[in-house]
Amino acid sequence: MDNRPIGVFDSGLGGLTSVHELHRQLPEEKVIYYGDTARTPYGSKSPETIIKFATQIVDYLVARNTKMILIACNTVTALALDSLRERYPAIPIIGVIEPTVRKVVSEGCSNVGVIATKATIGSDVYGRELRRMDPDIKVCSAACPAIVPLVEEGLTDTDIMELTVKHYMDDFVREGGFSDLILGCTHYPLVAGHLRKLYPDLRLYSSSAEVVSEARRILTENDMLASGSEFTDRYYASDMSDNFIAMTDMLFRDTDFKIHLLKLEE
Ligand code: DGL
Repeated sequence: MDNRPIGVFDSGLGGLTSVHELHRQLPEEKVIYYGDTARTPYGSKSPETIIKFATQIVDYLVARNTKMILIACNTVTALALDSLRERYPAIPIIGVIEPTVRKVVSEGCSNVGVIATKATIGSDVYGRELRRMDPDIKVCSAACPAIVPLVEEGLTDTDIMELTVKHYMDDFVREGGFSDLILGCTHYPLVAGHLRKLYPDLRLYSSSAEVVSEARRILTENDMLASGSEFTDRYYASDMSDNFIAMTDMLFRDTDFKIHLLKLEE
């Protein structure tokens, strides 16, 4: 048993979708979440900047005595996972990409679409991982850079968002001919309603959910599950946006938690 909290982070509020899933799958676990709302989106920034920001956050979460780090962000996983694991070899650091790819391959998908930020698509990490696990798999990818800023602006359930999704997806879905779609950004489960309405035949795979299944497996195998912890979940944001507060209130209404403003040193 290990009652220390799990450190979870994202560039903003998208990673809260992973925390929601964590509470569902592992209700005894406690969380320290960091959303870098002042510097979001990461997906259009350079690899050096993404690595620098992610390192600052993980340094903070490790200093808070977390037992595991869950990178609830595809962009950080694509660009910074290796360097973070090198920096902290003794702490399990889990990224969103490998568990998602494993799930898709295990379900026998042969033609897969991937949508994500520019940085994630530019790294081709999903394509490489999918082909490594299944050399015959067909993969088509599309970057959807306007979705994250719209989510962070609180415009998720609007016609503007539906049009944005359509703008990125219509040709992509028609030309790709796939029936399985990876939501390769942890903000995208928040637009799953639009995707289901516009493309009801697509099967959606959420990277936010798969990373939690992987965390559960590692905690169970290493006898590190929490039980009866008295720690209260803490949410930190580098800019206390109304949307971050509204999203935490909506997702975690029934849990005990505190939200704080915290800027990390440059
Ligand atoms: N949720 C992050 C991801 O999964 C969003 C990236 C961004 O800030 O652009 O990639």
